[in-house]
Amino acid sequence: MTDNPLRILGIVGSLRRNSYNRSALCAAARLVPEGAILESFDLDGIPLFNQDEDQHPPFRVAELKRRIRESDAVLFVTPEYNYSVPGVLKNAIDWASRPYGDSAWDGKPAAIMGASMGTLGTARAQYHLRQILVFLNMFPINQPEVMIGNAATRFDEEGELTDQATKDHISRLLQSLVDWTRRIGRE
Ligand SMILES: Cc1cc2nc3c(=O)[nH]c(=O)nc-3n(C[C@H](O)[C@H](O)[C@H](O)COP(=O)(O)O)c2cc1C
Repeated sequence: MTDNPLRILGIVGSLRRNSYNRSALCAAARLVPEGAILESFDLDGIPLFNQDEDQHPPFRVAELKRRIRESDAVLFVTPEYNYSVPGVLKNAIDWASRPYGDSAWDGKPAAIMGASMGTLGTARAQYHLRQILVFLNMFPINQPEVMIGNAATRFDEEGELTDQATKDHISRLLQSLVDWTRRIGRE
């Protein structure tokens, strides 16, 4: 292990300007434990996946793959759309998993969190995402599960996370991800 900070790449599954999930990632960046940094990659500009192009991916996709590979771990922050992950996130996952044999996700430690308007706080989307991570050969932490339900009551008008219990939960998630990433080793 080096003295360099452990690098976590945060990816938000929403393109919405006032996204609660983007706000949750911003909150997480302020809660990251010492010895780690949380950066982000914006999925805006990632085109729809086309397998004809996976050998020569568009610039933005190549950039995504590079950023994933440079990171030690990935934090997915996703809304739930119709009981699953938004197409925006699945599309980006598919791009970065190709061409076959050149997936940027392979072997990466990961954590998942999400915010939704519903009471279950993206639970169903998170379990779908976990299923996807199996094929990607990623290693998500199991606990804690951060499912931010009733999001409108936990963020203020400026998108600031105001709910202390949620902040504490996110802190525990990040600490768990850092411990897990150190445990399973860095490339
Ligand atoms: C297409 C669509 C499907 C949705 N499906 C769900 C859902 O299955 N469960 C849920 O709790 N909220 C659902 N919502 C509401 C989202 O929780 C809400 O729009 C949330 O703000 C999205 O996250 P964001 O603020 O990060 O964009 C859905 C919203 C959209 C636009």
